[in-house]
Amino acid sequence: MDLKLYGLKAVVTGGSSGIGAAIVRVLAEEGCDVAFCARGQAGIDKALAAYVGRAGLAGKVQGRALDVTDTAQLQQWLTELGGFDIFIPNVSALSGDWDAAIATDLRATVAATEAALPFMAASSCAAITYIGSKAGSLAAPNSAAYGAIKAALAHYMKSLALRVLPAIRVNTVSPGDTLVIDGFWDKVRAEDPASYLRVQQRNPLGRLASAEEIARVVAFVSSPAASFVAGANWYVDGGSVAHVQI
Ligand SMILES: NC(=O)c1ccc[n+]([C@@H]2O[C@H](COP(=O)([O-])OP(=O)(O)OC[C@H]3O[C@@H](n4cnc5c(N)ncnc54)[C@H](OP(=O)(O)O)[C@@H]3O)[C@@H](O)[C@H]2O)c1
Repeated sequence: MDLKLYGLKAVVTGGSSGIGAAIVRVLAEEGCDVAFCARGQAGIDKALAAYVGRAGLAGKVQGRALDVTDTAQLQQWLTELGGFDIFIPNVSALSGDWDAAIATDLRATVAATEAALPFMAASSCAAITYIGSKAGSLAAPNSAAYGAIKAALAHYMKSLALRVLPAIRVNTVSPGDTLVIDGFWDKVRAEDPASYLRVQQRNPLGRLASAEEIARVVAFVSSPAASFVAGANWYVDGGSVAHVQI
């Protein structure tokens, strides 16, 4: 299947590592020109260096150091990029702290998404794909802020879809437990092997997802090949969320 991503322009927030970096790579492999941001210049340089001379990378990749909670900086970056087709708000504070979750996951994501809308107006295949989490549908007494804000954002994205369709398709992709090198679960694996084993066991596939397994779904949902997919919340959780979503 041709995803018809070749020649499109994509913007990814938080693209120097983890799921965001995998999304950048998969979109570029499919021929998108991709711009991503992250706070640390060193991480950006490392990510960009990995793309130099990489076989199979059809699109160009560029990175910008900025913090998504600085809306003025983010707006300036989008203005410099000009028009684009695909926007992937991926940054999370990955925190159970209410202030951090509200500032980064809620306020910055909504501000960035609203700021992106005018830059997608000229695209004939505009798509926003928010990176949510299965945590948005699971009670989590020790990290309620993270899950509650993910649920709020899935709600916002659904409402936004109905607001901006037919011009822009808006969807959420909600990953399950994902093993990212130097990421959250990688640290648990190193520091608390018993907890890591429990996380593996709660996944019917007996393992965590790779970032690439999430990114491939994000690329499809964001692509013209998914032209009738809108207002949906896609769980990429290896079957680990047991309840029926209706
Ligand atoms: N990993 C999982 O198991 C899992 C499961 C479900 C959902 N998710 C979701 O997937 C998304 C990515 O998670 P991840 O595990 O891939 O995270 P990660 O490995 O920690 O990567 C986060 C990326 O975002 C950047 N970033 C962080 N804060 C930023 C900010 N304020 N402004 C700009 N860039 C920022 C980081 O670079 P700098 O630090 O240099 O800024 C990095 O490039 C999140 O929305 C998360 O909730 C993850």
